[in-house]
Amino acid sequence: MAEIRIDKYLSVALSVSRTDAKALLKSGKITADGKVVLRPETKISETATVKYGGQELAYKKYIYILMNKPEGILSASTDKRVKTVVDILPENLKRTGLFPVGRLDKNTTGLLIITDDGDFGHKVTSPKSLIKKQYLAGLDGKVKEEFVEIFKNGITLADGEECMPADLEILENNHAVVTICEGKYHQIKRMFGVVGLGVNTLKRLSIGKLTLPPTLREGECIELSLNEIQQIFE
Ligand code: URA
Repeated sequence: MAEIRIDKYLSVALSVSRTDAKALLKSGKITADGKVVLRPETKISETATVKYGGQELAYKKYIYILMNKPEGILSASTDKRVKTVVDILPENLKRTGLFPVGRLDKNTTGLLIITDDGDFGHKVTSPKSLIKKQYLAGLDGKVKEEFVEIFKNGITLADGEECMPADLEILENNHAVVTICEGKYHQIKRMFGVVGLGVNTLKRLSIGKLTLPPTLREGECIELSLNEIQQIFE
């Protein structure tokens, strides 16, 4: 059974800093499997029963965060120059090992999952997963009816790379919703490039059956349960 330092366990279970976790331990109110734990470096089993002042704590091994990514923020964990999606998380959701699942371009907005569960991240981004992703694109010209068929047949990108069949739904005012089931670099922008259109705005609306909540504003996030995150695979 995996073991974890008690101060790390407390910082995750109570959403507090390691320093605060150490202070709590000093207070003598923390027990693991019935024994008072005072030292932060004490290792306990991840399945231990940990109590604070007699109240049992719930430890979540992994966290799953749904963010409405704002423009101008990098889809990365850290960067020397630019703010990343992990930098802008609220303090209570921050922990070590967080990373965005797949990348949205700096100027793309919308649904982004941030987690510390590497296996889950791999499952979603694997080319074999074939999970559908839906994007709303604002184009610099008219989206013609004939493009629907071109997208459906699988576009060959400028560098010869072949795309799988994609759904194109034409909306008003040079907008369209595109559904793809892969994640090539700048894929949507490059697909529209083939039919002579530039992408002015791009927003991801969904991954699988998991959709961006309409009330979630750019920069805001919500924590998802393990059950909710499974909608990605439905
Ligand atoms: N396709 C793009 O071109 N950019 C994104 O950010 C996502 C998909």
